[in-house]
Amino acid sequence: MPPSRQNGRRTARLVVLVSGSGTNLQALIDATSDPTTGPDYGAEIVAVGADRDDIEGLGRAERAGIPTFVVKTSEFDDRVDWDVALADSVASHEPDLVVLAGFMKLVGPAFLGLFGGRTINTHPALLPSFPGTSAPRDALEYGVKVTGATLFVVDDGVDTGPIIAQVPVPVLDDDDVETLHERIKVSERAMLVEWVGRLVREAVDHQPHPEEPS
Ligand code: GAR
Repeated sequence: MPPSRQNGRRTARLVVLVSGSGTNLQALIDATSDPTTGPDYGAEIVAVGADRDDIEGLGRAERAGIPTFVVKTSEFDDRVDWDVALADSVASHEPDLVVLAGFMKLVGPAFLGLFGGRTINTHPALLPSFPGTSAPRDALEYGVKVTGATLFVVDDGVDTGPIIAQVPVPVLDDDDVETLHERIKVSERAMLVEWVGRLVREAVDHQPHPEEPS
């Protein structure tokens, strides 16, 4: 498949995986489709995948005209088969980078065999504090005064991979889980858009131009 080009630059192919409302996905859709800055962003979203139906994340992709796919664990005998099917579905879109944006499942060995080192995840806490699926609640219950969001490279642990970027967010005295998580997500979306753009532009700038000898 010939690489897409915008403004003379190769655009990286992103597959984004979601499980819920997809506001982080929406931030990436906006960044890649902005008529003024989108062509220089360096990436296009070629597909959005999910582990469940009927979520707003898939609706956002459909409204933006982005192909979607769903790979549910309930349709497979075990997580190993699900992981292989998920990896196959993602691979069919030939991504340069896979972005887990509120994807609430752990990917496994088949997935990491294909996409290890080029799958990133965003998490609503300052890792290594509060890994897992209830980070804002855990931060609030612990009583920390500052939490935040972390972008990291996915490895075979639970939120343990190398950290790419972090952003701090204050915990306010009257926060509940929802207000805290919503404030984290404002900063998280900005971090995600900034760093996905940086990563893809850096990678593309280091690749030989297709018309030039390597
Ligand atoms: C985000 O805060 C993301 O970090 C979190 O789910 C939210 C998804 O929001 N992911 C995790 O907690 C993964 N452990 P969104 O669907 O509005 O983008």
